[in-house]
Amino acid sequence: MRISVFGCGYLGAVHAACMAHLGHDVVGIDVDESKVRALSAGVAPFFEPNLDTIVRSGRESGRLTFSADPAAAAGAQVHFVAVGTPQRRGEDAADLTYVHAVLDALLPHLRPGDLVVGKSTVPVGTAAHLAQRIIEAGTGAVLAWNPEFLREGYAVEDTLTPDRLVYGLPPDEQGKVDGTPARQHARAVLDDVYRSALDAGTPLVATDYATAELVKVAANAFLATKISFINAMAEIAETTGADVTSLADAIGYDARIGRRFLNAGIGFGGGCLPKDIRAFAARAEELGRGDSVGFLREVDTINMRRRQRVVDMVVDELGGDVHGKKVALLGLAFKPESDDIRDSPALDVAVRLKGLGADVVATDPHAILNAIQQHPQLGFATNTVDALFAADVLVLVTEWAEYRELDPWRVAELVHGKVVIDARNALDPARWAEAGWRYRGMGRPDAE
Ligand code: UGA
Repeated sequence: MRISVFGCGYLGAVHAACMAHLGHDVVGIDVDESKVRALSAGVAPFFEPNLDTIVRSGRESGRLTFSADPAAAAGAQVHFVAVGTPQRRGEDAADLTYVHAVLDALLPHLRPGDLVVGKSTVPVGTAAHLAQRIIEAGTGAVLAWNPEFLREGYAVEDTLTPDRLVYGLPPDEQGKVDGTPARQHARAVLDDVYRSALDAGTPLVATDYATAELVKVAANAFLATKISFINAMAEIAETTGADVTSLADAIGYDARIGRRFLNAGIGFGGGCLPKDIRAFAARAEELGRGDSVGFLREVDTINMRRRQRVVDMVVDELGGDVHGKKVALLGLAFKPESDDIRDSPALDVAVRLKGLGADVVATDPHAILNAIQQHPQLGFATNTVDALFAADVLVLVTEWAEYRELDPWRVAELVHGKVVIDARNALDPARWAEAGWRYRGMGRPDAE
């Protein structure tokens, strides 16, 4: 199959490379020429495990090309729309500028029977609107909506072996392609694209546009709610002396609840969960159903409160005044195995502490360059030892394996104050206390 993928960000670059890996002929298209250059040279423009390898093999096989020119999509039978839908500045709603810009660029190149496939996360109702635009342009092309559920850090694996596939298919009234109803045509083309996953038994939900759009935001809203739920329990644990990690273990053994996404800590961040729940709440309000997802506002509030909780703990441990005190911050990415700092709780805490006058020195295995560009006012160290040297307090904010595995005895020799704030509940309190540290976690008793 010949495929074009519009957008070579975290979603599109991975999708393009994985489609080529599956044997399709793929062109990835992006307006950012530096991204196109990097990818054409076989280099992923951001850190994502295994992406470099499959981009390089795709380039070598000749099945994967990149271009900044939308005309490169001409001749492909399937066109994926994988551009960002960020939060609108100063508002909660999603900004659909890039999605519409892709359609503007694509329309002149569409031929009868082509399938345009939306992957971006959009407010419900967007697909129907885009389909209308395609029909009005008289191209004879068909639209399907096929949300993506990949996690950063596992993006390649999640794309090649997804948990499930969701197709949002057009109603049959949207015409025929070579005598076949639009819906059947779209389904057959998507089945060809995803043949290997389907043959491996991946569950498929074939549905309408609105359901497919909603599946995506509902999944992210559910995950965000699960995290804020356990963080709310952490708050209660903090005032009662209970331990939220044992609580999560105990409720997680109930298969109806499940232990995954029940890690209390600094809360969720990244380019998806925070903006998706806000955009969902905003869209529900537009639809007159704000009350149905009003709880998402509370999910957001609990989440943001956890960041302040970490800041308050640092201030508290430093005797109420952080001026001139060195705070060593381990982690900047919104989660491990990623260099993504979009809405990163770690970075937010760093900025808040800096604003209070602390001498913040932050480090991260992959996200430092991104962080420097956005927040040059912070102090950075390229390794853990430099970050920790003479620090008054150590704050673990992103649980990279190398921070989880820190040896508390060795680290104790570097710092000035042996206080560790474990904002991810990633360390063993007893071990750190044994090595002479004062340990503070999130929703679990202090140890010393
Ligand atoms: C999320 C979803 O998990 C994906 O299924 C979805 O496809 C993606 O958004 C998207 O919409 O594109 P991602 O943003 O990569 O994926 O990150 P997650 O693994 O979901 O983590 C989100 C945040 O929650 C991170 O800051 C993480 O540290 C935090 N988290 C996660 C917790 O605080 N506690 C947990 O138990 C789990």
